Amino acid sequence: WPEGAARIDGALVVGGASLPAIAAEHGTPFLLVDETVVRGRARRIRESFEAAFAAHGAPGVDVYYAGKALLTAEVVRWMREEELRIDVCTGGELALALAAGAPAEQLGFHGNNKGEPAIERGVAAGVGTFVLDSAIEVERVAEAAALAGRVQRVRLRISVGVHASTHEFLATSHEDQKFGIAIEDAPALAARIRELPSLELVGLHTHIGSQIFDHEGFAESARRMLALHAELGEAAGAPLPELNLGGGFGIAYTAADSPEPIEAIADRLAASVRARCDELGIPVPRIAIEPGRWIVGPAGVTAYEVGTVKPVRVEGGERRYVSVDGGMSDNARPALYGAHYSARLANRTSDAEAVLVRVAGHHCESGDIVVDAEWLPADVAPGDLLAVAATGAYCHSLASNYNLTPRPPVLAVRDGAVRTLVRRETIDDLLARDAGLAAGAQRAR
Ligand code: LLP
Repeated sequence: WPEGAARIDGALVVGGASLPAIAAEHGTPFLLVDETVVRGRARRIRESFEAAFAAHGAPGVDVYYAGKALLTAEVVRWMREEELRIDVCTGGELALALAAGAPAEQLGFHGNNKGEPAIERGVAAGVGTFVLDSAIEVERVAEAAALAGRVQRVRLRISVGVHASTHEFLATSHEDQKFGIAIEDAPALAARIRELPSLELVGLHTHIGSQIFDHEGFAESARRMLALHAELGEAAGAPLPELNLGGGFGIAYTAADSPEPIEAIADRLAASVRARCDELGIPVPRIAIEPGRWIVGPAGVTAYEVGTVKPVRVEGGERRYVSVDGGMSDNARPALYGAHYSARLANRTSDAEAVLVRVAGHHCESGDIVVDAEWLPADVAPGDLLAVAATGAYCHSLASNYNLTPRPPVLAVRDGAVRTLVRRETIDDLLARDAGLAAGAQRAR
């Protein structure tokens, strides 16, 4: 639950605002993001890495907020004010970040298939660094930069071969996956980049996966990356200026998760980078990281209204299904990754005994689970409000219109004042795109 969440007269209060009062004004479901918590976490992770790496001889640290976790114009503004850069990975994220006023030179542009139009837009806008993911992209970005008469700064994404202990779909740096370039192929590609006058190689990049608690994975990845970093620096006759170690720092979704404090993670990582650089006889490079989930995840809460409660006979007893007015369209993570969440009754407290329930969504799919197992008061009934914690990251950004469900709004709260970051989608929004309907047909003509 976001820091400072409390109960006042039975109502769950986040960031000083009462969830039932918000529901009365904005309807349900909604995603509420506590601005103070997001900003505090952005500052905290930046300062922890800056301090840890400064203590271990790095010339500086750049923190890129991974926009894929949650990107709205206000979030871009908060990151800017908290002195974070932004990492985008599609033409859409790039367009939003630029439109929201992010300085282009502070953007990192990722993706294994950015597409030529987005590459051209990025080069023209003056994006700070492109992270190149394949030999084809090296040529594509070089050509776009040459045409635009620019020298584009680039990083090379490396698949470092570390098996991060996380869900298979979230691990990104073992061998058989689509991201990055194998360590053994990197020297040839780096040499090719050096031949191209429109590109400047500023360093290497890796990202071993997401929602990682096993910090040995980060250290091992840094060790392997630094060996390659040293090798490429030697081949080029000068050390590469920077090294980007990616994101992936895990957060607590339920009481069973206990991530280490970020300060400790930063310290240990900085110490192992320093030790490895000493071993290799190279200076500690400027370090970049790209956290997304860690910054916004814990700051978000989704509130739903309960619609039905139904006991279902299962082996050895019964399971109580509590169905709410959202589900896999606003939070795909349980269905996609088997992710666990925790929920609370948000509009009142209850003295009824706690029973183990499953919170389900309203979609036509049995995998449409919001919280697979949660203790809630036995008297939870239609009309009650349920809040689900830690939904700030990868919920809005992964939301869909499955079953023609309009996406919920993203609201922000600060010192009790609530405002809309992204408005609720309407059924008219959805119908308007259908060229077979009158409104859509008019638009299509
Ligand atoms: N950098 C790169 C290159 C990435 O691919 C990602 C995440 C990040 C940084 C940020 O990772 P974070 O710090 O947020 O863990 N939809 C999944 C997560 C996919 C992450 C994709 N890449 C989920 O909901 O768990």
